[in-house]
Amino acid sequence: MPEPSEGSRPIPWAVIAVVAVVFLSAVGYLWVTPQSSDPSLGDHRVAADFAVAKAAGGKADGAQIYASQCVACHQATGAGLPGVFPPLAGSEWVEGKPEVMARIVLHGVTGTLTVKGAKYNGQMPTFKDKLSDAEIAAVLTHVRTSFGNHAAPVDAALVKKERDETKAHDKPWNGDAELDAMR
Ligand code: HEC
Repeated sequence: MPEPSEGSRPIPWAVIAVVAVVFLSAVGYLWVTPQSSDPSLGDHRVAADFAVAKAAGGKADGAQIYASQCVACHQATGAGLPGVFPPLAGSEWVEGKPEVMARIVLHGVTGTLTVKGAKYNGQMPTFKDKLSDAEIAAVLTHVRTSFGNHAAPVDAALVKKERDETKAHDKPWNGDAELDAMR
């Protein structure tokens, strides 16, 4: 018997043809697919939905502001996330003095903060440059009268007063250490 030898077996033309057709049709598909940002193809939200909303007549809408600015942390139910984001529902800070709640939202909070007997140590962002007095008043009123809370509404004049009085304050409140004394 002669020594066995390895012959050459080129890739069959049929396989090359199939791969070429698949590749070309993929490129063609990308080419002809319209690259639109039509919101109906996505989750139906447009840029305006993320802006701070104003209700008809230019009045700030507290529920809309809550939904765009606070809900990510304090949740739609106002219950927060245990151990991470404190609840607004039934919170002594929310139902307490409106001045202190306004200060919390204006400047934010870090450090240990006790809410409904539980200690939190997170970072609440500042809203003083993001929301106007009327917008903060609207969201405070919304939170104070939602999620089972029954505190009095807050007006823009009160927020303006707190904004002016704490103008020199340029960092978030240091949790209980600073806020307890104001209650
Ligand atoms: C990025 C997450 C985040 C966002 C957004 C946020 N908060 Fe907070 N908030 C926190 C954290 C964290 C604390 C507790 C801070 C700490 O532990 O020092 C807090 C504390 C509070 C408190 C005092 C404690 C309590 O639970 O009552 C109030 C009131 C409050 N936030 C209201 C609001 C409002 C109103 C908005 C929207 C305008 C808002 N927060 C947006 C994270 C957030």
